[in-house]
Amino acid sequence: MERLQKVIANLGITSRRKAEDLIITGHVKVNGNIIKELGTKVDVNDIIEIDNKIINQEIKKEYYLLNKPPKVITSTNDEHNRKTVVDLINTEARIYPVGRLDYDTTGLLILTNDGELANILMHPKNKIPKTYVARIKGILTKEDIFNLKKGLVIDDRLVETNNFKVREKNYDGNFTIIEITIAEGRNHIVKKIFASLNHPVVRLKRTKIAFLTLDNLKIGEYRPLKLKEIKKLYSLK
Ligand code: URA
Repeated sequence: MERLQKVIANLGITSRRKAEDLIITGHVKVNGNIIKELGTKVDVNDIIEIDNKIINQEIKKEYYLLNKPPKVITSTNDEHNRKTVVDLINTEARIYPVGRLDYDTTGLLILTNDGELANILMHPKNKIPKTYVARIKGILTKEDIFNLKKGLVIDDRLVETNNFKVREKNYDGNFTIIEITIAEGRNHIVKKIFASLNHPVVRLKRTKIAFLTLDNLKIGEYRPLKLKEIKKLYSLK
């Protein structure tokens, strides 16, 4: 149950303030009765009318692509009151992140209130590829590369790790930069892959989900997805 004025505002019909005015001045009916009380609670089964026109209570779907900053948690709320990715998006809609990036990981994250699309993107059978750029400790050896090409067993399950490019071997700094594309969504999977090779990840950024890239989005910036992008994501099912 939600307050009537909030439901009207969330549907994008008007602002919360104007919805309150409409209610007080007797323009709004719930289940056929004029309601002038601001605290009135309604749910999706209630029939709401404004000036005798029934409004469609179907939730307006929203889709965002965020360049997640570090030190923000991928969740809708946090028991320790840390900033969440949802706090970064200016919307009244109840959006949530699709999958997760670790607290210190940056990069591409999709947020939506469309459960069907979220399921498509997260379901393992759809094998949605995600690309990461990792800075790992130490210099990747021929043997490591052989192992990555073969695939690695992580927590008793094989991960395909053969889609990678070594971007930089930095002997002075003793690190390697590697781009790797993984088609599964287990938590901490990239860190686990490189930890198993004794090259712990020191920095991690997601640069791609399927065909979506970060483009010009700076860290902390976001943009709504375009209709054609949403359709293309649906077609990945
Ligand atoms: N793999 C990780 O280890 N961390 C992330 O945030 C994403 C993928």
